[in-house]
Amino acid sequence: MPTVLLTGASGFIAGWILRYLLDREYTVIATVRSNEKGEYLKALYPGVSKLSYSVVPDIGAPDAFKDAVVGVDYIIHSASPFRLNISNPVTELLEPAINGTTGILYAAKLYAPQVKKIIITSSFAAIQHVSKRDYPGHVYDETQWNPCTWEEALACNAHDAYCASKEFAEKAAWDFLAKEKPNFTITAINPPIVLGPMLHEVNAATINTSCSVIWRLMNGSQKIVPVTPVHLWVDVRNVAMAHILALENPAADNQRYLVSAGSWGLEDVCQYLLKSFPELKGKVPTAKNELEATEYYSGDNTKSIKDLGIEYISLEQTVYDLAKQLISWV
Ligand SMILES: NC(=O)c1ccc[n+]([C@@H]2O[C@H](COP(=O)([O-])OP(=O)(O)OC[C@H]3O[C@@H](n4cnc5c(N)ncnc54)[C@H](OP(=O)(O)O)[C@@H]3O)[C@@H](O)[C@H]2O)c1
Repeated sequence: MPTVLLTGASGFIAGWILRYLLDREYTVIATVRSNEKGEYLKALYPGVSKLSYSVVPDIGAPDAFKDAVVGVDYIIHSASPFRLNISNPVTELLEPAINGTTGILYAAKLYAPQVKKIIITSSFAAIQHVSKRDYPGHVYDETQWNPCTWEEALACNAHDAYCASKEFAEKAAWDFLAKEKPNFTITAINPPIVLGPMLHEVNAATINTSCSVIWRLMNGSQKIVPVTPVHLWVDVRNVAMAHILALENPAADNQRYLVSAGSWGLEDVCQYLLKSFPELKGKVPTAKNELEATEYYSGDNTKSIKDLGIEYISLEQTVYDLAKQLISWV
């Protein structure tokens, strides 16, 4: 089977991509930021000789991927900063996201001319007109772009700056394709908020940004149901498999995909939590939030179903599978 370079393999989404790649017997080179993280991954798959790792401490550094790309057939670029407790959006979000993406594309072109396809974990954040917020009645699809400018990105909050980092990084990838005409094709996977069980090394203090939304509903820290941060959601297993199906399907070459299960709200999540885990009574907030929108945008996932054949997992199942894991931390 071909060799796939998977970046950010210690992360939430990439943890599942790694599992599915190994299930399908790909040889995988996983990039991680330290030997410790690489050894953690190796320990998850004892005796699996098809898995090795390459240490890339900072995806945004010049020539960060020069060694990692050598000899690989495909690349799945999932690494990008998704932390909102930041003090400098330029150095902590925008530069690593953009330079990490252009860096791996140039590395593939210069040092790995045999690479056939690069799948990029982009985001709904690169599609959404973020400043329109709830945007009632609007339907998002892959033809649309977040129009945030660099100047706006410098002046906005951390969430919106993160969204801009995904917009600029994905745009840089398509610009690269048009200008450099490399041997490989590109596919962008654009999920909204991603939820579901976690395979990566994590605890209550280090939990990834999207799963922390559910964790905060369970740990007694919220008195009223928080406002739903993004009105579209998707299960991590659907997102991970979308990367692999895109890699294997020529129909996905040079395409972007809104990989979304549909609309959701934190009020529904709270109900599901209380139904499946009655012991959380008193911790899960039940008081309605007056600021929660009743009308908002939706997403059209037709292209992801048609080209990739995704069968979307239900919100109730996803919440159950994640909460079952988190309940031991309560
Ligand atoms: N989760 C979501 O809701 C969601 C939705 C849409 C798109 N995405 C995108 O999906 C991808 C994965 O996100 P995730 O949710 O799985 O987050 P995550 O668990 O935080 O994973 C991010 C990965 O990227 C690595 N990374 C971040 N900055 C880096 C840097 N400067 N140098 C080297 N490695 C770096 C992290 O390494 P360390 O952990 O060692 O720092 C981690 O392995 C990102 O591109 C994100 O933008 C996520």
